[in-house]
Amino acid sequence: MSYQKTLPNIKSKRETRKVNVKEDKTPNSTSVSCDLVSDKEGLKNILENIPSAVMVIEKPEGKVTYANKRTIELNGMNPCGLELENLAVKIYNLDGKICPTEELCTYRALFKEETVRNAPPLIIEHINGKRFIANVSAKPLYDKEGKATAAVAIFDDATDRVKIQEALKESEERLKMAQTIAHVGNWEYYVKEDRAIWSEELFRIFGLKPQEYGPNTNDYVARIHPQDREAINKIMEQMLFKGVTSKASFDYRIIREDGLIRTIHSERMIREVDNDKKPERIVGVEQDVTERKQIERKLEEHTKNLEKLVDERTKQLKDAERLATIGQTAGMIGHDIRNPLQAIVGELFLIKQDVDSSPDSQYKRNTQESLGTIQEQIDYVNKIISDLQDYARPLKPELVEVDLRYVIPQLLSTVNVPNNIKAVAECDKKLPKLNLDLTFLKRILVNLATNAIQAMPNGGKLTIRTFEEGDNVSILTADTGVGIPEEVKPKVFQPLMTTKSKGQGFGLAVVKRLVEAQGGTITFESKVGVGTQFKIAFPKIIK
Ligand SMILES: Nc1ncnc2c1ncn2[C@@H]1O[C@H](COP(=O)(O)OP(=O)(O)O)[C@@H](O)[C@H]1O
Ligand SMILES: [Mg+2]
Repeated sequence: MSYQKTLPNIKSKRETRKVNVKEDKTPNSTSVSCDLVSDKEGLKNILENIPSAVMVIEKPEGKVTYANKRTIELNGMNPCGLELENLAVKIYNLDGKICPTEELCTYRALFKEETVRNAPPLIIEHINGKRFIANVSAKPLYDKEGKATAAVAIFDDATDRVKIQEALKESEERLKMAQTIAHVGNWEYYVKEDRAIWSEELFRIFGLKPQEYGPNTNDYVARIHPQDREAINKIMEQMLFKGVTSKASFDYRIIREDGLIRTIHSERMIREVDNDKKPERIVGVEQDVTERKQIERKLEEHTKNLEKLVDERTKQLKDAERLATIGQTAGMIGHDIRNPLQAIVGELFLIKQDVDSSPDSQYKRNTQESLGTIQEQIDYVNKIISDLQDYARPLKPELVEVDLRYVIPQLLSTVNVPNNIKAVAECDKKLPKLNLDLTFLKRILVNLATNAIQAMPNGGKLTIRTFEEGDNVSILTADTGVGIPEEVKPKVFQPLMTTKSKGQGFGLAVVKRLVEAQGGTITFESKVGVGTQFKIAFPKIIK
């Protein structure tokens, strides 16, 4: 025990201390004094065989007068006869710093007459550098007159114990760190006392200041989101009172004092029961899974979006397939139907000429009527072929400057309007000219007007209005017809979409293509039983 480094001025201190020694101190019945022991041999035998190191130091120099076997063993030498300052060991505090002389247990017991127990462990280093951790206690010894003339020191090798304690502390630190990183807190709950012990991280998860005890049941329940309280109550009732289950695992939300809502995953189980098998101690782990839940929700959303995208894409592919089929059909029709149709038209023209020049008769008039009907039907077939081909082939508009104020009424006059329908064209007086393809425009208007007329079998009004609107010039066709049912609305521009027994379902698909090929857009509004409006908007010419 080396007081060697720490005791350079021990002598002077000792002198001071000597003055301070209380002369009136009397030994009490339990005090031990070397020369009070009657059976010295017996005592020595005990001292030599106990597992602790025992050492006696005497005044005035602080010389070691007795050291038992364990002392010699631990010191690696026999200190007997040596003064404290000459002992060949060094003594450090646990932080590695030399322990000051006046703090040494032996010094305090011998010169301050203090009884020292439960002092912090010290590190003792042999002359050969070997170290061990010692737990030291010391007590003054009194002579017959009650004077403290010596001190006894007892010490143990506490290296293993301290190391275990340190390892424990370290693993506790690691656990704390792991809990912080994983946002996990653990707790123990003593049912009868309604007392909870919470880990630091659990307090943090709940937005509370770490304390000795966690909140009691009432305070804990108050933190639970009102919508989740009943479910948790049920689970805990089954666990605590009904004995239905000894384990539970669930998610719930808490509302922290700062208003933040966090989602917690909880795993809890009964750890101890009393004699009546009633739960006494429950343990649990709570994990803050707010972020994880948020990511899960986002992932779910993305998955849904992805599914929608896939659906859309599939539909697009199907449409593309359909279009390809339409294209092929259109090609075939152009070649296999239009050519014979042209021949028929030619023959019809010749027959008509022949008939027209023949003398007037009932037969002539009947034939002329029939030929007229044939001509109408051929026109109808021609329209279908044109629609189909327009839909399938790439469009190349031939743009010319158009004044809609004149063109629209002109085009409307070519449409065959039944007597029970009133058709009007209204135009703004001043209207900028547009760059449009006249053939396209005609096909657009004829298609829209035809649809409008077909929607008014019992008559009505067809209005075509042209007006300036912002950067556009718009053409509106409005009818007072049957209207478009909601379920048909999303499909009206699809090719082959028709609600008519003799319809082809190409009209609006073609109209949309023709409008867009000229840089325009088409929209519509419709109400069943009220009527329908289609609005085409073309950008003005920028001069
Ligand atoms: N003005 C309208 N009023 C009511 N329904 C209409 C009107 N225009 C178009 N529709 C609806 O849109 C469908 C598609 O029109 P369209 O493409 O021209 O094909 P089709 O006229 O051959 O049926 C029609 O069958 C009809 O149901
Ligand atoms: Mg149509």
